[in-house]
Amino acid sequence: MSSVKQTGYLVFEVSDLEAWAEFGTEILGLEVVDRRGDAGFSLRMDGYQQRFFIEHGAADDLAAIGWEVEGPSALEEIAQRLKDAGHEVTQGSPEEATRRNVEALIRVDDPAGNPNEIFYGPKMADEPFVSKVVRSGFVADEQGFGHVVVVSKDDAKHQEFYATMFGLKLSDYIRCEYFGHKIDVTFMHANARHHSLAFGGGQLKRIHHFMVQAHSMEDVGLCYDRFLFSGGMVHQTLGRHPNDKMFSFYGYTPSGFHFEFGAGAIEIDDNWETTTHGKVSEWGHHPPQLLTKAYRRAKEARQNKD
Ligand SMILES: [Fe+2]
Repeated sequence: MSSVKQTGYLVFEVSDLEAWAEFGTEILGLEVVDRRGDAGFSLRMDGYQQRFFIEHGAADDLAAIGWEVEGPSALEEIAQRLKDAGHEVTQGSPEEATRRNVEALIRVDDPAGNPNEIFYGPKMADEPFVSKVVRSGFVADEQGFGHVVVVSKDDAKHQEFYATMFGLKLSDYIRCEYFGHKIDVTFMHANARHHSLAFGGGQLKRIHHFMVQAHSMEDVGLCYDRFLFSGGMVHQTLGRHPNDKMFSFYGYTPSGFHFEFGAGAIEIDDNWETTTHGKVSEWGHHPPQLLTKAYRRAKEARQNKD
C-alpha cells in the first residue's frame, strides 16, 4: 500500500504579510523566497524550494497541509483509495501544481474539514539552505518541514482516515488535564519523525500549532531570546515533551495560532511501541500568563461571584 512520505509543506492564509515575513526570517530563521507581490511569498528551510506558502487573506489559519508521495503511481493509488471510500477528491490544475512547485497534486479534506493536498515531484532548491540566525540549521529534508497539530471532531474517525487513506502510523496519545483543560491528542508518523501530524478537539482554528526543529538546543534558546526581545508573547515556556522528547517552547504567530520551536527529538522506526502518556511535558511548557498572581486573583474573583 502506498503511503505519504512526509509533510512537504503548509499553506497559511494570513492577514499581515509583512509581520509574517519578519517573523519567518528574524524569529524562526527561515528565508523568504518567491515573493508574489500582494498575494504572498514562500519560506524556505532546507533543500526544498519552499516549506511554507504564506498567502494573503482574512482567515489567519491553516489553508492546506501538503503531503508528499513517491511519484505518479502512488498519487493515483491514493486518489483511487480515497474515492473508493467515498471521499471527494479534486484534481489540482497544472497552474495550481506550478504554484506549489510540484509535478501534480490532488486535494481532499479530512473528517474535520482540514484541507489536505497530496503531491509528487517537489522542486528542489538550486543552492544549499543557510539560515541567517539558526546556526545549526533545521531537521527537515526527508523528515518533512516539522509537524502540525490540527483540530479533530471525532478522534477515532480522524485516526482511521489518516491510517487507512494516507498510511500514517500511530505514535501515541497524550491524555491528561492541563490547567483546567482536558487534553486528548493523537500523534501519528510517516517517517522517522515521531509525529508529522497530531490532532485533538476543542480548538478554535483549524491549526493549533506547527513545529520546526533546529539541530541544536542552543538555537532553541537563541530563538526564545529573539522572540522575547521582538515583543512576542510566549504561549508555553521551555519544556520537554514525554513522547518525542522535544525540548521546545511555544509562542504566538502574527496570525494568533501558535508555533513550536524545538530541538533534540528522538527518531523512531518500525519497532516503535505505542503508548498513552498522562502528561503534556516532563517539565516546563507552562503557560506564563496563567501562572501570574493577577490571573489567579481574577479567576478567584470570578469563582466567588458564581
Ligand atoms: Fe508540537
